[in-house]
Amino acid sequence: MSEISNRMGSLGTENAFIVLQEVKRLEANGHKVLNFCIGQPDFSTPEHICIAAKTAIDAGKHGYTPSNGILPLRQAVAKQFSQTRGISVDADDVVIACGGKPFIWYSIFALTDAGKGHEVLYPNPGFPIYQSMIRALGAVPVPLCLRERNNLNFSIDELKEKITPNTRLLILNSPHNPTGGVLTRDEMEQIAELCINNDIWVYSDEVYSALTYECPFASIASVPGMIDRTIIVDCASKTYAMTGWRLGYMANKTLAPHITRLVTNSYSCAPYISQEAVLHALTANQTSVHAMASTYKQRRDLFLEGFSSIPGVSCHKPGGAFYLWPNVTEACKITGCADSEEFRKRLLNEHYVACLADIHFGSRVPGEGQHVRFSCASSTADIQSGLEQLNIFIKKHM
Ligand SMILES: Cc1ncc(COP(=O)(O)O)c(C=O)c1O
Repeated sequence: MSEISNRMGSLGTENAFIVLQEVKRLEANGHKVLNFCIGQPDFSTPEHICIAAKTAIDAGKHGYTPSNGILPLRQAVAKQFSQTRGISVDADDVVIACGGKPFIWYSIFALTDAGKGHEVLYPNPGFPIYQSMIRALGAVPVPLCLRERNNLNFSIDELKEKITPNTRLLILNSPHNPTGGVLTRDEMEQIAELCINNDIWVYSDEVYSALTYECPFASIASVPGMIDRTIIVDCASKTYAMTGWRLGYMANKTLAPHITRLVTNSYSCAPYISQEAVLHALTANQTSVHAMASTYKQRRDLFLEGFSSIPGVSCHKPGGAFYLWPNVTEACKITGCADSEEFRKRLLNEHYVACLADIHFGSRVPGEGQHVRFSCASSTADIQSGLEQLNIFIKKHM
């Protein structure tokens, strides 16, 4: 049998799934694990959305749809993008896909050529699929380091230094996974100026747009001159607690027909039933969205308060998403852990508290120390118990 392609060797993965296997193994052995590693809402999809899906099934909406999605849904997305981003988006420029994730590879595929040295700038730490897809598609990954002193964002000076004539695309993710960092309007304007002057596309991963806590959500697409070169991406997964329904949406006039062709070439169209459910989600009142966001904020504050009284742990206040990115450099020293990965493994195996380590989101940023990621997608009681266990783990070594 012939060997598998070299390209497969450059494809990464999401290590969260590997940690989940460790959690499952402990659970199978009878341990109750306090799980903070999942980037998935712990809420059920709101009932009125489920009812819309059942209605779609009963109405016989079982078949293929156009590859770019049903028109009423594209219209609803265009309206929502226009209202929430302060821009004007046309339904013809919208494409529906199976979640937000496929747009990452569709966009890199559409904007870079393999082996030509085309560079893609991406945040590090960041969603691991960015680097994985850049590599697998034969482009050159260029990390932008996120630092605590920059409010968990990259510095504009570093961005300037890393732009070259080969830079094709900049990936932004605000609010950010895993740090919870949010770009300010001023930063967006400076980034936009660099992208316009250097003819760079922007992939704006806005899947946490409904989860900002200190200031309203803003998209770089709203900076004058940016809409044409910005691929706006959002999804139902986080906003409506619909991860398993696999429904995401993007908008860009130039890329929409190309991305539609990529959908046709991969899975033909997003599931009709999910499209109908999300059409309802977008057009119904948004009370459940606000309720979930307010709960995440309360949990974030609970985590922050807890971290502040645990020795060796310090945590920047995340402005959005549902993650916390505590610095555990001192805690590693106290507990005798070589690094954040050993720290999170011992926390899991000795205290049954699951979180992810910084190395699951890219290579460690020099000078930034050790970090772990906690997700807020757990109950208040679990967060309190998790903080208690973290405290015990560290204090017993003091
Ligand atoms: C930054 C970011 N982009 C994209 C996705 C993928 O979203 P979806 O599940 O809708 O494909 C995630 C999921 O965790 C994410 O954190």
